Amino acid sequence: MYCRKLITAVSIAAAGLSAAALTDVEIDELLSRMTLVEKVGQMVQVSSGGKSAAEAEDGSGRKIDAVLAGQIRNGEIGSLLGACGVKNFNAFQKIAVEESRLGIPLMVGHDMIHGVFTQLPIPLALSCAWDEELWCKGGELIARETPLKGANWTFTPMVDISRDPRWGRIAESAGQDALVASRMSAALVRGIQTKDVAHPIAACLKHFVGYGAAMSGRDYNEVEMSESTLRNVYLPPFAAGIDAGALTVMPAFHTFNGVPCSVNKWLLSDILRGELGFKGMTISDYNAVGECAWPDHHGVADGDESVSAMAVAAGMDQDMMGESYMKTLASAVKKGLVSEKAVDGCVRNILRVKNALGLIEKPYIDEAAAKAGVDWKADAALAREAAARSAVLLKNNGALPLKPGLKVALVGPGADDLWHTVGCWATWAENTSNPTLVDGLKADGVDFKYVKAYGFRGGKVDVAAIQSAAANADVVVACFGEQGREAGENNSRMDLSLPKVQLDAIDAIKATGKPFVAVLMNGRPLAIPELAEAADAILEAWNPGTSGGWGIADVLTGRINPSGRLTTEFPYATGQCPLYYNKTRTGRPHKDGERWTTRYIDGPYGALYPFGYGLTYTTFEYSDEKVVVDGDKLVFTAKIRNTGLREGVETVQAYTRQLVAVESRPVRELRGWKRVALAPGEESVVAIEVPLANLDYWAASRKVAASGEFEAWIAPDSTKGKKLGFSIR
Ligand code: NOJ
Repeated sequence: MYCRKLITAVSIAAAGLSAAALTDVEIDELLSRMTLVEKVGQMVQVSSGGKSAAEAEDGSGRKIDAVLAGQIRNGEIGSLLGACGVKNFNAFQKIAVEESRLGIPLMVGHDMIHGVFTQLPIPLALSCAWDEELWCKGGELIARETPLKGANWTFTPMVDISRDPRWGRIAESAGQDALVASRMSAALVRGIQTKDVAHPIAACLKHFVGYGAAMSGRDYNEVEMSESTLRNVYLPPFAAGIDAGALTVMPAFHTFNGVPCSVNKWLLSDILRGELGFKGMTISDYNAVGECAWPDHHGVADGDESVSAMAVAAGMDQDMMGESYMKTLASAVKKGLVSEKAVDGCVRNILRVKNALGLIEKPYIDEAAAKAGVDWKADAALAREAAARSAVLLKNNGALPLKPGLKVALVGPGADDLWHTVGCWATWAENTSNPTLVDGLKADGVDFKYVKAYGFRGGKVDVAAIQSAAANADVVVACFGEQGREAGENNSRMDLSLPKVQLDAIDAIKATGKPFVAVLMNGRPLAIPELAEAADAILEAWNPGTSGGWGIADVLTGRINPSGRLTTEFPYATGQCPLYYNKTRTGRPHKDGERWTTRYIDGPYGALYPFGYGLTYTTFEYSDEKVVVDGDKLVFTAKIRNTGLREGVETVQAYTRQLVAVESRPVRELRGWKRVALAPGEESVVAIEVPLANLDYWAASRKVAASGEFEAWIAPDSTKGKKLGFSIR
């Protein structure tokens, strides 16, 4: 009960992330009273189910594991993995706070990646809304709902730049651009760590760093990366999240240029803390410390003692689900393999985070207060809006929106399956209604009949069913994509094309001669040239979440005009991957039809659908595009006119390209964007301001000030726009 006694001795501000209960001096005093066993205990995270159960389920119905209870009582555990229900959370916390010698509260973490009961679209989808306010609201929703599952920490946001859709975890990311990912990272952290809830929770930036660049797109695989790319592309979203106050960071599983991130001192100490100024705590990925020692895994340490010492010296504060720290850290200290001072540093970080989270003053979850903060209907409405705004209209020759009164034949897999609709990392999806696409179309009054007719993979197309459904309909709306859990962790694909059964379905639908609208639900970009050719309209709906059926129906019926823009590119073929718009320049840049320029001999050079791309049900015209240097900023302007027949939102994007630099720079880089809503015929001058300092770049470890000649574009996507120019002297 040390903390409690201490607390009464100091004046405490109101609970909340910034209103810390203990001063740094008091934290150090607490540290000075801890035994080595208690210190190591703070650095250990185990499953909330104890040895007997997997952590990934809601443990609320489970009895508390007696061994685990004893370990907590002895001060041997610092945090738990796996939301365990409010009752069990409070029971664990009572043991930690009231029965352990020092009374240090526990943190309980879980992956609330895109929601809890209410699931928003997967993060990749949400990134396509290009809207910081929406992302922040999404974070706040996670903050409101997480404590109701018995957790006070989420391993979100994942801010790994993802340039390769073979990598299944692209679904959890904000796509391929550092600026989009940075803004989404900061907005999510602000939302997740809002103080405006009964029980603040901690965010976790992951996976530090470069995880999305896994060789061949295969999860857990090695990463080889230049320091320039690390600094220019992969670090900025972490820097932004840290600046937004993220309390925790999770180093990644992989090796970075040969050294596993989990024991990588350069990354964890020099860069993360030294350069990015991170002051919170690091938590390893699942047993990632131990795996550094296993000879058939990374094999960079000689056994658990030595790997514990390496990880602590590198800057890994807490060991998730491994036994290295638990079983060997104390002996490693006693043998002098690592200093107790280094251990103290880790424990200090952990105590500071617990303190900042308000746990010293308010360790328990007040279920009634947490519930009172949640408005299920409002959350469902937010999820519906998010689903509609995350959808990207990839093609439309006028088949969308569905005109009122049309008879629709709805075919294909997933249209009536909530688990498919919500996507990966959505164990507890259960808001009030949970509409599938079938439910959504019903709610929007569409006259349709649903016949599945084919699956995602394997099996045959029921051609007769498609023919008879189409015969009685004015339009066929057909679902394609991936099963809901086909993207996500360790779901790498070697082939991004649609499986044969879906390709056969395209032929069968085309053969009916009816207008053909495709709805894609998937967790990553796919290679869909056949669909792009055959369909009259394609709506990329992603895995749109618990209100997804409503949101997607809203877009199909035109109740909402789509405004989503891609944050990652769609390839023609898997062989183009990794595929990203901001590639470094090459010798012999690509020119269509020219033999000795960079190209493929069996397919197109560029993307099928590029970064920044997305259509709406109206059209926009750009004119008077300009860019000027004004003091210490760059100002892009353009006149945007809605030339169509209905209101719409245009996402105006600003790009630059530095012509001559110390190292070859990307062909284009996004510098800013603005969303503008315009009525039919309305015109607006959009201005995007960019601090000149944002154009500075890294050449290995040297920060270089941007100077010289630049090209620039203010444009609707990364391939379009009138070429402008400016110079910085
Ligand atoms: C492994 C994943 O890589 C990580 O993202 C997640 O937070 C942990 N497991 C805990 O579930």
